[in-house]
Amino acid sequence: MAAVATTEPQNPLTAGLERLPVAPTTLVIFGATGDLARRKLLPALYNLAHDGALPERFHLVGVARRDKEHEHYREECEQSIRQFSRRTPHEDVLKRLLEHVRYVPGTFDDASVYSRLEGVLDRFEEHAGEPLSRAFYLSTAPSFFPVIVEALGKQGLDRHEGAEVRVVIEKPFGASLAEARELNRRVLGVFEEHQVFRIDHYLGKETVQNMMAFRFANGMFEPLWNRNYIDQVQITAAEDIGIGTRAGYYDHAGALRDLIQNHMLQLLCHVAMEPPVSFTADEVRNEKVKVLQSIEEPIPEEIPGMAVRAQYAAGHAGGEDVPGYLEEPGIPPDSTTETFAALRLEVDNWRWAGVPFYLRTGKRLARKVTEIAVTLKPVPHLAFSQDGSLGVLPNQLILTLQPNEGVSLRLGAKIPGSRMVIRPVHMEFLYGTAFLSQSPEAYERLITDAMRGDATLFTRDDEVEAQWRICDPILRTLEHTRGPLSQYEAGSQGPEEATDILLPEQSWRAI
Ligand code: BG6
Repeated sequence: MAAVATTEPQNPLTAGLERLPVAPTTLVIFGATGDLARRKLLPALYNLAHDGALPERFHLVGVARRDKEHEHYREECEQSIRQFSRRTPHEDVLKRLLEHVRYVPGTFDDASVYSRLEGVLDRFEEHAGEPLSRAFYLSTAPSFFPVIVEALGKQGLDRHEGAEVRVVIEKPFGASLAEARELNRRVLGVFEEHQVFRIDHYLGKETVQNMMAFRFANGMFEPLWNRNYIDQVQITAAEDIGIGTRAGYYDHAGALRDLIQNHMLQLLCHVAMEPPVSFTADEVRNEKVKVLQSIEEPIPEEIPGMAVRAQYAAGHAGGEDVPGYLEEPGIPPDSTTETFAALRLEVDNWRWAGVPFYLRTGKRLARKVTEIAVTLKPVPHLAFSQDGSLGVLPNQLILTLQPNEGVSLRLGAKIPGSRMVIRPVHMEFLYGTAFLSQSPEAYERLITDAMRGDATLFTRDDEVEAQWRICDPILRTLEHTRGPLSQYEAGSQGPEEATDILLPEQSWRAI
């Protein structure tokens, strides 16, 4: 599909960027009427169409349980795009995108769904006069992932003469190491690993990819990027929202499974990995797997000293009184699911031995912020008196993923005047100002990469298992710890117990 002429101003800093070609493709979304499809996938497809980033021939098929006509589904797609797109839709682009949308109703364990689906795919191809690549996007409840994959295999939809077939699998990829292994086994019983794209939407965020540019395209940080200069790394993914309408999913997941096992361990890997030989799927993922393998599997006796979990109690957030987790609709009043989790991990290799990596995430915290703060060791000797200084603090490099994406470096500077008095100042780079543009949504990048067959920003089979190897023992130990779960007030900095896992003289950054 070609880009539209719009009245948006051309950004001279990003103009001329070449679009990577995508082969003619049919995208099939299972769970086509679900929350993720409505809020993220359809708006992402619209924005790709708007940018001319979809292939010349692009078809979309929605598969979901309820019976409805193609036209009715198209109307729903239109509504979702109008409501959730980051841009106001351009009528012509929207119309052209919707013309190529079809709907197949049915339950995912019903074999007839797959034969009807094949019929729709075949008709597109008869019309096109050539085979079209197929991407099956599994945006359903996780229990359907193996069911759909195996049904696709039975119908012979896992391969296609003259074109590519790919399967995109949403998170969560299993709820334990055993489940992740079993899911890998079943998926790889049908598809080859190079056809499988396990989504972690954090990898599609511009700022996460920028961490690689930041580390490996600049000479000045790499010499310092090790245990000799770095004192600690703190990775925070705090949210001010509660669990909204996701009680059914969240109460089975909790903060560790929802964010730490995937997004936060990915961020840790980006901080700690060695430079890959090239930016290819295998090289990048090999380096990340090495990092995960350098983290020792936590043993039960050590877990209470390195991990904290807690639940939000009623409090005040976003200017209003909000209920506690146990009062949220759909949550059992005796639920012990954590809405906050913090860990101290060590990457036990030559570069990082002895440097604590702190991970912290939670719902209903003081504000939404996702950041990585790398604190350097203090200078060995201060030649001037600290009298009157606001404290000579160690240098700190803060990579902010959201909001206000950018990089900030904390330096000590002299306060103007006759005395040698120091205070911290910040040197800032902000994405918005440097590139004058709105970053694309993570899903836009990931959908095109999956259609192009580039798996660099997706989690490999061994990688997802390596992530579970770290989280599984923590979950098992903490879930069996007796006694009431710690609580924190909604809208606060989190539970006081979070400080228990810090090494002496270290403190959490304010959220
Ligand atoms: C999702 C989690 O994967 O990530 C949500 O399931 C969470 O609970 C979300 O809110 C956070 O994503 P982002 O892009 O807003 O940081």
